[in-house]
Amino acid sequence: MPCNKSLIHPLSATAMELLWISPVKPRAANVVTVLVVLALLSVKGAESRKGRILESFEYNAMSCRAHSASITDFGGVGDGQTSNTKAFQDAIDHLSQYASDGGSQLYVPAGKWLTGSFSLTSHFTLFLHKDAVLLASQNLNEWPLLKPLPSYGRGRDAAAGRYASLIFGTNLTDVIIAGDNGTIDGQGAFWWQKFHQGKLKYTRPYLIEIMYSDGIQISNLTLLNSPSWNVHPVYSSDILVQGITILAPVRSPNTDGINPDSCTNVKIEDCYIVSGDDCVAVKSGWDEYGIAFGMPTKQLIIRRLTCISPYSATIALGSEMSGGIQDVRAEDITAINTESGVRIKTAVGRGGYVKDIYVKRMIMHTMKWAFWMTGNYGSHADKNYDPNALPVIQGINYRDMVADNVSMAARLEGISGDPFKEICISNVTIGMAAKAKKIPWTCTEIEGITSGVTPRPCDLLPDQRPEELTECDFPPEDIPIDSVKLQKCSYGMHYM
Ligand SMILES: *[C@@H]1O[C@H](CO)[C@@H](O)[C@H](O)[C@H]1NC(C)=O
Ligand SMILES: *[C@@H]1O[C@H](CO)[C@@H](O)[C@H](O)[C@H]1NC(C)=O
Ligand SMILES: *[C@@H]1O[C@H](CO)[C@@H](O)[C@H](O)[C@H]1NC(C)=O
Ligand SMILES: *[C@@H]1O[C@H](CO)[C@@H](O)[C@H](O)[C@H]1NC(C)=O
Ligand SMILES: *[C@@H]1O[C@H](CO)[C@@H](O)[C@H](O)[C@H]1NC(C)=O
Repeated sequence: MPCNKSLIHPLSATAMELLWISPVKPRAANVVTVLVVLALLSVKGAESRKGRILESFEYNAMSCRAHSASITDFGGVGDGQTSNTKAFQDAIDHLSQYASDGGSQLYVPAGKWLTGSFSLTSHFTLFLHKDAVLLASQNLNEWPLLKPLPSYGRGRDAAAGRYASLIFGTNLTDVIIAGDNGTIDGQGAFWWQKFHQGKLKYTRPYLIEIMYSDGIQISNLTLLNSPSWNVHPVYSSDILVQGITILAPVRSPNTDGINPDSCTNVKIEDCYIVSGDDCVAVKSGWDEYGIAFGMPTKQLIIRRLTCISPYSATIALGSEMSGGIQDVRAEDITAINTESGVRIKTAVGRGGYVKDIYVKRMIMHTMKWAFWMTGNYGSHADKNYDPNALPVIQGINYRDMVADNVSMAARLEGISGDPFKEICISNVTIGMAAKAKKIPWTCTEIEGITSGVTPRPCDLLPDQRPEELTECDFPPEDIPIDSVKLQKCSYGMHYM
């Protein structure tokens, strides 16, 4: 039964009684419920049905919606067994008619909702109840195939196409995936095993991928065991990722947390990530394909991120950076038992640039390297990369950091004939592990300065006198996404 324009189905007397006698705790959400019920008393001509329970709540979002429906209105069954792929796609196809009429929201109640990949629409919100779990199907027929991304030229696991992500969107405006910490479970072991056995014909799906879109919010969700990357906004702008918990085994393959890729004006805030790959990996395409596509990632802010990733980086820039990465600001970052803090990964043949990078107030416990820059990452899309396409790495600023139990303070390796320039590191104290390497810094093909850094940096990063350098740069002004105010959206719905 599709939703109707009145938003909320008329209530029967039975439902009213159920509501009034239910043992409610005095919380704001219940006050809203009562108001909705009172409003409904005036609805006339109500067709009454037994067993309806009204539920309502509030959440914060970039935009609120005029039309609502629940996945159960479209035949969804939350038993963990029944496939809901068709229910999701039917619901969203139906709700897409409201794009120019106030938009719509699709509610996923408590339950286990098995589903394959489905596609979102514009001016749309997918909202997960706190006890809702989307379970990724293991039936390959429920995963449509997509062409390789143009800026990559091929899939990362296999040259041919790639499986569409569990939640997919392309060419959208104003799309929100939000929850009261509801869960999206990729059931990744199935895919990791195929990957390790070399049995994949196509590249593994991601949990969330939104392409060619503008105005994206992904908030207050828990993402579990993704087959591969977790959140992948690509060729998009005006993006808010907030309050996301990402959990995957630290040995799981390529389970990157959040990968903004050829995106502009992006804010990633208040996320907690435990994963088998980089917690945040900033990207912009691969070798000759990325150079030809030429779309950078720029204006990115990462705030209050906690990362645990023993075999990867807290924040990686690259290795696919051929469209360029510029103006990345990260602050109040905590890394625990993680291989490296900030890592720049690139190679001859990548072209592009990584410039104007600013990181401050980072706390690191138990790390292999606090800072790592790799100019010989290799890993090419194919043999046709241009050996003359050298990346420009310039304007890298790190300040106000403390670290303890670190094996090596820094390993900074530029490219011969293409040094990484304008590196600035100030006010950084790195406590070395008992079994630390004898030489805490190794530096080749880099240029820059330091101030107030312990242990003493390499000779290529000479310490400045305090009157010449007090602190490395960090831009004081906001990026545009910082001034977007979230609205309080309310949601009233019924279910059987
Ligand atoms: C996410 O949840 C937190 C804590 O409940 C809340 O403060 C925040 O406003 C929520 N964010 C959004 C975008 O709803
Ligand atoms: C989406 O937008 C891109 C870039 O503008 C365009 O190349 C592509 O054809 C569009 N795809 C669809 C499905 O409309
Ligand atoms: C969300 O759920 C995850 C997994 O259960 C939990 O670790 C996390 O603390 C929860 N986050 C919030 C803000 O409640
Ligand atoms: C140096 O960094 C520490 C740790 O982040 C911070 O508490 C302190 O205020 C910084 N000092 C200056 C002079 O900025
Ligand atoms: C220091 O790091 C080592 C691993 O490199 C770990 O085994 C040890 O527990 C850490 N010590 C502390 C005090 O965190």
